[in-house]
Amino acid sequence: MTQNTIKIYQAPLQGFTDFVFRKVHSETFGGVDKYFIPYLSYGKGREIKKSQLKDVLPENNGALPVIPQVLFSDQAELFDLIKILLDYGYEEINLNLGCPYPMATNRGRGAAWLEKPEELNELLQQLYSKALPARFSVKMRAGLTNDQDAKAVFGVLNEFPLEEIIYHPRTASQMYTGKANPALFAEALSLVKHPMVYNGDLFSEADLEQMRVLFPEQNTWMIGRGSLIMPALASQLRGNSYELKELRRKMKEFHDQLLDAYSARLQGDSHILMKMNQFWTYFCESFENPHKAMKLVKKSSNLVKYNAAVVEIFRNY
Ligand SMILES: Cc1cc2nc3c(=O)[nH]c(=O)nc-3n(C[C@H](O)[C@H](O)[C@H](O)COP(=O)(O)O)c2cc1C
Repeated sequence: MTQNTIKIYQAPLQGFTDFVFRKVHSETFGGVDKYFIPYLSYGKGREIKKSQLKDVLPENNGALPVIPQVLFSDQAELFDLIKILLDYGYEEINLNLGCPYPMATNRGRGAAWLEKPEELNELLQQLYSKALPARFSVKMRAGLTNDQDAKAVFGVLNEFPLEEIIYHPRTASQMYTGKANPALFAEALSLVKHPMVYNGDLFSEADLEQMRVLFPEQNTWMIGRGSLIMPALASQLRGNSYELKELRRKMKEFHDQLLDAYSARLQGDSHILMKMNQFWTYFCESFENPHKAMKLVKKSSNLVKYNAAVVEIFRNY
């Protein structure tokens, strides 16, 4: 099936899909309609991490279709973060109502909002009353611990002119266990008046086909971990197929460009190796023996050994 009419979004994956990854990905495999930038948020002492600020810098994103995201616990944080993004010229901003990690939810951030629809309503009223020169979208889960929480939240979201809602039908407490629940997505489609984006567990063309049978009208899909494992995934979901040999060649090219780009930005072997090790935690899954591949990467103590390990992985695993 030709799937040029569908839209594929790249999910934000903090620590993985940074501007270096996004640029290399778009230049090698591409196929992504929007790259969502991992969240911008306040850390300790109301400081924003340098890496997060670098990620939203317009000069680091060139002409790529990127959408920044904010993770916030209250109005003050939200408005301050939005101001930074407006100053950089962003015209669309995504609100994170789905981050499941207790470090965020314990501070009232991310999925914690799913349990406080009234406060959310107040927040959005304040936000829209400012008539800011930006559109807003939401990325959310089904609830913090209860997958019925989303219903009251949808009622609130329907009252505001949101751009779209990206919905990952799992609760935050599930983290990544179990399966994303299509029945919850079906329910959301019937309750939400905004354009909906499906997100969760799309790892292959077969996964997408299955979802398209369930939701034939659904047009926009977000992929996350799937493109860390297989960076060709967005392109494949659009109907581009690759011969195995060609795919391997392009994966190697992708890897090499990523390594070059991180090498140009990071100082010293250990930093570069740390970044590449992290990348391999997902990328190794696209090889026949992920465990062996990961082991080889992990035991590389310098870049010379690392490069030899990578050649061996592409040759043998
Ligand atoms: C390592 C990691 C980092 C993530 N960082 C973010 C983030 O910054 N913002 C966000 O909205 N979601 C974040 N997510 C959630 C993903 O965007 C996505 O919703 C989730 O992985 C489900 O999609 P998938 O099954 O296609 O991976 C992260 C997930 C992972 C695994």
